[in-house]
Amino acid sequence: MSETFFRALVVRKNDDKTFTREVTERKINDLPEGDVLIRVRYSSLNFKDGLSCIGNPGVTRNFPHTPGIDASGEVAESSDSRFKEGDFVIVSGYNLGMDTSGGFGQYIRVPADWIEPLPEGLTIKEAAIYGVAGFTAALSVDALQKHGIGPEDGEVVVTGSTGGVGSVSVALLSHLGYNVVASTGKKEEREFLSGIGASQIIGREEVNDESNKPLLSERWAGAIDSVGGTTLATLLKAVKRGGAVAATGLVASSELSTTVFPFILRGVSLLGIDSGYTPKKLRSEIWKKLAGDWKFAKLQKLTIDCTLDQLDPEIDKILAGGQRGRVVVDLE
Ligand SMILES: NC(=O)c1ccc[n+]([C@@H]2O[C@H](COP(=O)([O-])OP(=O)(O)OC[C@H]3O[C@@H](n4cnc5c(N)ncnc54)[C@H](OP(=O)(O)O)[C@@H]3O)[C@@H](O)[C@H]2O)c1
Repeated sequence: MSETFFRALVVRKNDDKTFTREVTERKINDLPEGDVLIRVRYSSLNFKDGLSCIGNPGVTRNFPHTPGIDASGEVAESSDSRFKEGDFVIVSGYNLGMDTSGGFGQYIRVPADWIEPLPEGLTIKEAAIYGVAGFTAALSVDALQKHGIGPEDGEVVVTGSTGGVGSVSVALLSHLGYNVVASTGKKEEREFLSGIGASQIIGREEVNDESNKPLLSERWAGAIDSVGGTTLATLLKAVKRGGAVAATGLVASSELSTTVFPFILRGVSLLGIDSGYTPKKLRSEIWKKLAGDWKFAKLQKLTIDCTLDQLDPEIDKILAGGQRGRVVVDLE
């Protein structure tokens, strides 16, 4: 097995500090040490993969590198008693595809602790459709529910709603009976958003208050935000008394400028969502929910299928904020 070659996307750092990528052959022998070798069947594209491809040092520091923070497939070799050859598994998060070789290659080798057995009720392709983005959406919904926000409390707004985290959040909240307001910069995607369950669609400028007011009219019971910056600050100002905002991302900005008024005058909570190092017990619970009661019929509607050879332009598109739903990579 160690001499076997496999196909992978490889990102290289050039002498002039630019980055180029190509699909090429790699050796299994060159994969990092680990307990379990996995034949990856599906991966998916996340915003973080885009950042890895352009050398964002917060994501990847060592090149040449194979990105891909998601992988689902079959165990090929295992030195850990929890896994055996042929088991179907999911790896998402941890350090996969960041500073280790990731799911944009036909093989990965990882520590056994990073692996989640494929839950009953989910195919390996469906696991990749959810991927890190879907898992993060589910973690956010779980956090809002644990905060006590139910469908009867009012509308929940989702920002970056055509993106990976956003679209799964919209579809999942709608599946669970919530009234979902989808905020988007893509006017042309209204039909897509209604089709996955948004009951109202608003422009992203409506969630980008630059007035410096400490509070706005109370509007939403809760929010799931993947945008950050002024958008996150606006949500905090406009969520109803006792409401909560799940903060997942930073596509617009990693900055957050706010006052304490939403917290001390309205009891609003800011819920931090970290999918990368979610404790194992919660991780398994969330995957089981996604395979069970939380599995929504519109999963396929979110999906754009591609192969490793078709991935390159999709990476540019996600970096430009232009993707819709989840790009699933078939590793063949
Ligand atoms: N906390 C975690 O564990 C975790 C896990 C996964 C992802 N994330 C983060 O969540 C964010 C979203 O990830 P993703 O994979 O869902 O990305 P994505 O598919 O690219 O979705 C991001 C969406 O945000 C909107 N957007 C893009 N640029 C924007 C801008 N400048 N201002 C306002 N809105 C903008 C776009 O949707 P519209 O056109 O519809 O507005 C875009 O489709 C990223 O920051 C990612 O790093 C965090």
